[in-house]
Amino acid sequence: MNEQVALQVNSEKRKRVFSAIKPTGNPTLGNYLGAMKYWPRMCETYDCLYAVADLHAITVAIKPKDLRENSKRLFALLLAVGIDPEKNILFMQSHVTAHAELGWLLNNYTMFGEASRMTQFKDKSRKNPENVNVGLFDYPVLMAADILLYQADIVPVGEDQMQHVELCRTVANRFNNRYSPTFTVPVGKIPDYGARIHSLSDPTAKMGKSEGDADGAVLILDRPEDIMRKFKRAVTDCDTKVHACKDKPGITNLLTIYASLCDISIDKAEREFENSDYAAFKLRVGEAAVETLRPIREKYEALRKDDKALGEIMKQGAEKAARSAYRTLEKVYKKIGFVRV
Ligand code: TRP
Repeated sequence: MNEQVALQVNSEKRKRVFSAIKPTGNPTLGNYLGAMKYWPRMCETYDCLYAVADLHAITVAIKPKDLRENSKRLFALLLAVGIDPEKNILFMQSHVTAHAELGWLLNNYTMFGEASRMTQFKDKSRKNPENVNVGLFDYPVLMAADILLYQADIVPVGEDQMQHVELCRTVANRFNNRYSPTFTVPVGKIPDYGARIHSLSDPTAKMGKSEGDADGAVLILDRPEDIMRKFKRAVTDCDTKVHACKDKPGITNLLTIYASLCDISIDKAEREFENSDYAAFKLRVGEAAVETLRPIREKYEALRKDDKALGEIMKQGAEKAARSAYRTLEKVYKKIGFVRV
């Protein structure tokens, strides 16, 4: 086998990964340690596409200037954490109009009852009864379009999105059976690496990026003094031993954060703080967060100084994504019976 053939065979075997994050709220240390941190490395094993899911951000009322700012911020942050736009396809969802188009088409292969069972829809409707719009209901169908356009094999998601990936599989199978194999049926994967980080002020709740938990959520872009303040104020437990267990959610959360920041096991982190009191421990976790986030914030700030250059990276990403997306979309139109000229 000559080298070129070997390369081809090799690249044919590479599986495709698709994931996306909504530009709502301000990304937190939880988003970073749970997912974003691992995205840059995934291209060593897979062909990766990552989108800023801006179309998904309008199911909840959002001001134009916030949508604009959040979208640019998240895109720049994904670059800043190390996603290389030469080795990955990184793009803004709304820049590839095929997402909205396939979303419409897939609506017709998704049953009302199936979409009604989505727990996220039920939760969000309950929390926001004055704005239960059709977009909120349709959200998982658009998400299915995101994934299926690229024939993705693997979709790394959080637990809360698994049900949506299952719906995507149902819709893909239905379409494939009705016509002929068209879509790769993807699998959702809850990564075993990502750490689940809880709020520093309420360690039983997730560290959320949109909830009003100012002291509990460390933002990726927080200034060092704010990061330190939040860690110093972090809720701990009575007792004094730095040890991870069910009855000590505060300390367990801090140990998880530290282990994840330093890429070490919880055991090792515990041993490191065997003789520390809580105050010294919290200080060290804070410092580790500051050190990890500093280069990200610096890179981010440099990227945000040049809107034009950032726009250029978005454009190139969208062009690359579009090639694959429109190939799938064209197939879908033809199979359904649309006249194509
Ligand atoms: N719904 C996802 C979230 O809230 C974001 C998302 C949009 C997504 N499209 C996707 C995730 C496609 C995975 C695949 O986190």
